[in-house]
This record gives sequence, C-alpha cells and structure tokens, in this order.
Amino acid sequence: MSDELTYGEVYAPIYEEYTTLQGKVAEVDETVAFLERYCSGGSALELGIGDGRVALPLSERGVNVEGIDNSCSMLKLLAKRTDLVKARQGDIAHFVSEQRYNMVYCVYYTFTLLVTREEQIACLRSAAEALDDKGVVVIELDVPSLSPLVAGQQTATARLVDQENTILRVAVHDSINQNLVSTLLWFSGTSVRRLPQRVRYVYPQELDTMAECVGLELAERWGDWARGAFTDRSERHISVYRLRGAAQP
Ligand SMILES: C[S@@+](CC[C@H](N)C(=O)[O-])C[C@H]1O[C@@H](n2cnc3c(N)ncnc32)[C@H](O)[C@@H]1O
Repeated sequence: MSDELTYGEVYAPIYEEYTTLQGKVAEVDETVAFLERYCSGGSALELGIGDGRVALPLSERGVNVEGIDNSCSMLKLLAKRTDLVKARQGDIAHFVSEQRYNMVYCVYYTFTLLVTREEQIACLRSAAEALDDKGVVVIELDVPSLSPLVAGQQTATARLVDQENTILRVAVHDSINQNLVSTLLWFSGTSVRRLPQRVRYVYPQELDTMAECVGLELAERWGDWARGAFTDRSERHISVYRLRGAAQP
C-alpha cells in the first residue's frame, strides 16, 4: 500500500467495534463452518489475519491456523486474544512458506488491499505454492458495483445510520488503475473519525484469469458463507480454487 499509514494501523484501534457494526462478527460462525470443510483437523494459512476474527474460532475447531499480516497493531490485537494461532509480520503479496497447507484463505475484502494487478497475481502465486497437493485457496470478495462511480467518478454513500452512528463513505474512482480511493467518515456522539483506504477492485472473471496464470482453477463459487448460489445479483462471492489438474475430492 503506497499511502503513508497502512490499513492495519488505521483500522486496528476501531477494528472490533467497526466489524461488529458491519455485521462481520455476527457472520463469523457461518464463515468458519464454510472454511472448516476444506481443512478439518488439518492446517490453514490466513492472508491478512487481522485480529483473528476468523482465525481464532477456526483454530478452536481443531484446525492448525497460521497467519500473515503487515500491521504490528493488528498482530498485537491477535496476540492479546490468543496464543493458539501463530502469526508473522509480512506482506501477503510476496511470501514464502516452508509449510504446505490444506487451505490458504483471504477473506472480507483483504485481497483488494493489494492495489496493483502485479501484487494481486504475486499473492495468488505465493498462495498456490503454499498448498499441499489437494489444497485449496479460498477468496471472499465483493462484486464491484461501480455504476454511480463510472458516471460521476466521485460518490458519497451512507454505509450505516443508527441512533449512535453515521458512517459515510466518500470515494474517488481512479479508473486507470482500477482503484477506489475512499475515506470512511464515522460520526458518533461528538466525534468524527476519518479512515482512509485504497483498494483495487476485481471482477470475479478477472480473479479467475489471475488464478489461472499461477496454475489454479476455479472449483466452486458461492454467493455467501451459507453456500447460497452465486447469481448475477450477488453482491459478493466466495471462490474456491484448487491446483490445476489436482484430483477432485
Ligand atoms: C479487512 S482486514 C481483514 C482482517 C481479517 N482477515 C478479518 O477478516 O477480519 C485486512 C487485514 O489485512 C492486512 N493487510 C492489508 N494489506 C496487507 C499486506 N499487503 N500484507 C499483509 N497484510 C495486509 C491488514 O493489516 C488487516 O489486518
């Protein structure tokens, strides 16, 4: 990430509160039940592990979970919660793993925090190299919804409004680099927090092409963690890739 502060340093102080408000804490049981099918009793590596929102409950189900994150602040949050999960500081775009895993996974919109195509492909390559023969890479991403941006290049949208909080997202579209440069403005009580971020959005089809470039092939695509169908109305997808030519289970 080229901006001065990394995502993790900006979000760590409010991460638990923010992900709770966004419904990400509430959906974690479904997320973990989905993921466990691919690594039950085995091993998994989370890319951008954060505070262990997903990794910790997955490890409590008997999976040996490890993680990588580039943010000291996020890794400190994780270490406060558990010593069950081994995590190291590193860049998920370029990592080398001695160990081979049943599953390498990257959830929420973490993959898009890699803001160039080259970094995204390098991440998929590193993930593929870290798999055992029958291993899978699981990626959760939003399906880009750009119509207002394509027309106007800039938007301000309400992300959440309740009695206590108003969260607005102000975004500028950098179409050349397929980047959305945005700031969340979070008003609560008398305070306003400003949370900048940059993502490189990816359509599912481009993700498949990038995965194919590094020897992966799409095995499954779902619309949610409950294994709902992925349709042209889906707002996100959970895509499961295996090594090309790997025997199907
Ligand atoms: C959206 S949070 C997701 C955290 C966790 N996976 C979850 O689902 O709650 C993204 C995480 O990825 C980390 N991250 C972002 N870019 C990274 C990079 N290039 N290398 C390693 N970690 C990165 C951030 O520090 C943050 O912890």
